[in-house]
Amino acid sequence: MNPLKRLGCRRASVLGLLAATVLMTPGTATGAPDTAKASTLGAQAAQSGRYFGTAVAAGRLGDGTYTGILDREFNSVTPENEMKWDTTEPSRGSFNFGPADQIANRAQARGQRLRGHTLVWHSQLPGWVSSIRDANTLSGVMNNHITTVMNRYKGRIHSWDVVNEAFADGTSGQLRSSVFRDVLGTGFIEQAFRTARTVDPAAKLCYNDYNIEDWNAAKTQGVYRLVRDFKARGVPIDCVGFQAHFGTGGPPASFQSTLSNFAALGVDVQITELDIAQASSTAYANTVRACMDVARCTGITVWGIRDSDSWRASENPLLFDRNGAKKPAYNAVLTTLGGTPTATSSTPTATRSTPTATSGTPSGPRNATNAAALPSRYSWSSSGPLIAPKPDATHNIAGIKDPTVVQYNGKYHVFASVASSSGYNLVYLNFSDWSQANSATHHYLDRTAIGSGYRAAPQVFYYAPQRLWYLVYQTGNASYSTNPDISNPNGWSAPRNFYASMPDIIRQNIGNGYWVDMWVICDSTNCYLFSSDDNGHLYRSQTTVGQFPNGFTNTVIAAQDSNKYALFEASNVYKVQGSNEYLLLVEAIGSDGRRYFRSWTSGSLAGSWTPLAASESNPFARASNVSFPSGAWTRDISHGEMIRAGYDQTLTIPACRLQYLYQGMNPNAGGDYNLLPWRLGLLTQTNSTC
Ligand code: XIL
Repeated sequence: MNPLKRLGCRRASVLGLLAATVLMTPGTATGAPDTAKASTLGAQAAQSGRYFGTAVAAGRLGDGTYTGILDREFNSVTPENEMKWDTTEPSRGSFNFGPADQIANRAQARGQRLRGHTLVWHSQLPGWVSSIRDANTLSGVMNNHITTVMNRYKGRIHSWDVVNEAFADGTSGQLRSSVFRDVLGTGFIEQAFRTARTVDPAAKLCYNDYNIEDWNAAKTQGVYRLVRDFKARGVPIDCVGFQAHFGTGGPPASFQSTLSNFAALGVDVQITELDIAQASSTAYANTVRACMDVARCTGITVWGIRDSDSWRASENPLLFDRNGAKKPAYNAVLTTLGGTPTATSSTPTATRSTPTATSGTPSGPRNATNAAALPSRYSWSSSGPLIAPKPDATHNIAGIKDPTVVQYNGKYHVFASVASSSGYNLVYLNFSDWSQANSATHHYLDRTAIGSGYRAAPQVFYYAPQRLWYLVYQTGNASYSTNPDISNPNGWSAPRNFYASMPDIIRQNIGNGYWVDMWVICDSTNCYLFSSDDNGHLYRSQTTVGQFPNGFTNTVIAAQDSNKYALFEASNVYKVQGSNEYLLLVEAIGSDGRRYFRSWTSGSLAGSWTPLAASESNPFARASNVSFPSGAWTRDISHGEMIRAGYDQTLTIPACRLQYLYQGMNPNAGGDYNLLPWRLGLLTQTNSTC
């Protein structure tokens, strides 16, 4: 946002210019090819190089309905119980591979891949092992077990759960008590992995556990520390299995971040035992999407085929009903994998169908990279004003503006500009529910190391590789502060600049505009810094994930328009969950002098941008496509932020039921730009098709 502009003077100049052609450089191709659609889970997962597996019980292999679904849908198989210690070595030195062989041989004959589950686990462990008290004995017994079982299936197992469920629940973040930890000490995990590597070097070696899907859980952090330590010391480990036994709500909001944070350590991640109480389509779709959005998430296994096959049968947690018919969640999974939905056993209310245009002519061809792609028309419902300024003795605030927001630890954390006659600074507030937004305490950040002076238009995100929060804002330069704890307003560092000075290309194109609204987003390789000049240009600089926040160079014009009001400022760039699409929003000033948003998509952050809903008649968000059930309190839909699906540097947004926190104001207000009564309100998409 630009602190100096005045609204009134530009209305006439805008009229007539809106028909001008928008020049998005360098072209309009989205780049990503259409994927072919498959009609089974395994085949569809294979199109992105992943497997889709199920747990299999040897005792059910005589059931034709069961094997029919197994062989049609799944390309990976995990023995549900047959490779566990109590089955494979029920007494010392006497091995029983009958049931496991049955599953393994059958899978191999049908070209299905095999997961090995599991070698060292405190449960389903025979009494003769759990009663060992001598470390040398147990060490030998454990090594012999690993060696004998792995040798039996050597070369046939893609991933082995070498150690299962070694961490304690609760807040300790430590190992649970078990005969292995109690007799051998915490080093038993390392010993098991080292032994496993020597036996079958071709198998990926996984650590597998439950309740490690929430990044904020102590247990997750304990496992993360273990894996980080193993990678640092060269202890062999290749993958982490997230069991994903979920309640009705499905995965925690941070699940994708958890997967990508582990993947960033240099291991694959897999969803190994997925089941969800009552099998909501949304919960399943969210789980699958989290995996699809993490390159190193190599496959998903559901823990059984029909509800009646499940260890949680009373919760109906699987994708097929007891008759073997597909449930709605099946279609949600197939669609999220990128496939074509098929008929299910009941009305698939929560699953997606092909997006349909609500009215008017199609906005031109779009390369939908998969079924989670965004629609090309939008309608919204707006809240009333939810957040208003809270002046105090030393802050005489007129407007609250330019919000950025993340959900983290069960709270919304909002940062915004506060405007007064003395200029701009920043404010922070948090709350657990929108109904409490207006009663939240406002923390003025000029009292922190961020300091007084011109600071505006913040953007917040968690930079997972450094485990630090970043607040990006404008100070005249593009600046940032960092903080290990987003909820501590006093934790922010003093401002630092991304650039030594304004990049030349901006200086050459800015004209009479202002350099505003810096925005950072990263993919797995690079970070990009976007900014606007209030003169029709969107700029983009680039650095690597490793170098960030340093090294932003190669500044280019990412998009431009000869009508500066059509490509003005306040850009947002997001990754769309479950697709290969990025979404660009840029604030424009319409022919009525009011603010609104236009949108584009691209298959890459450095790519060219294709119009999505990008005109005054088909805007992304404008007063004309927003309803105001509690009263039309604003005609401007101005500078704000999408409610994201996560909180890290990938800026991932959901594909469905979008929400946008924006600034609006009383349409009758006027006068000094810095004293305009901006308030914050929330848009919720009303035409979501999923
Ligand atoms: C379960 C099986 O599904 C049941 O049949 C058995 O009675 C108990 O174990 N975590 C794991 C799996 O790693 O091995 C468990 O499987 C479920 C929890």
